[in-house]
Amino acid sequence: MKHLMDMGKFIDYKQDLKIEDKTFQKLMFLYSIAIKEMETKIEILKDEFKILHDYELINHVISRIKEPQSIVNKMQKRNLELTYQNMVENVNDIAGIRIICPLKKDVFSVKDVLQKMSNIQILKEKDYITYPKKSGYSSYHLIVEVPINLSQMDIYVKVEIQIRTMAMDFWASLEHKAKYKPMLGEISQKESKEWVNCAKMIHKLENKMLQLY
Ligand code: GTP
Ligand code: MG
Repeated sequence: MKHLMDMGKFIDYKQDLKIEDKTFQKLMFLYSIAIKEMETKIEILKDEFKILHDYELINHVISRIKEPQSIVNKMQKRNLELTYQNMVENVNDIAGIRIICPLKKDVFSVKDVLQKMSNIQILKEKDYITYPKKSGYSSYHLIVEVPINLSQMDIYVKVEIQIRTMAMDFWASLEHKAKYKPMLGEISQKESKEWVNCAKMIHKLENKMLQLY
């Protein structure tokens, strides 16, 4: 099994990391292929359930590649020396996919299917649904490795997958916008508590609607 770090023949890992360099672009290209591969697998799963099982398991899927400057900021925040090796080994969310499911049980079904897929490797798992974060955040997170087929070899590339319900997504999207706008300044402790309360209300509402359904 070969990883990005085994691409030394094509990628000069010894240089310093510079986001405007060709080396950086080459790596971003490989991450973008990994996103396409993973997104296709998930779209197929979505359609399989819709067409063969007449069930909406997945509502929608979105993907993104991390902004170059955000990669650098994250490495600096973690006091990592700006090298390509550190980037590849430590920044796990360069390629990111979000899967939005109607119901909580669908989130767990999706992660079960992903765990059983023979051609992807699970590196890390975090269940913020059973154990929400202090902020109130809940979602199921996986760091996986997906193989990309290059002309001379197959390479495993890391992708972060976040699986959540529509209700969890509603909360997380708004909370993220409110918290991560630096020009608005830090949000107060009181506001933070309100966000946690909103998360609790949303989970209650979700459970109630699930029962009704
Ligand atoms: P980073 O937060 O990416 O540095 O990684 P980590 O190793 O701490 O992983 P974690 O699983 O905690 O979070 C990864 C991602 O989940 C974040 O980049 C966000 O997209 C999302 N996330 C985590 N916590 C929160 C939260 O409190 N609010 C919102 N809106 N999103 C969150
Ligand atoms: Mg992140």
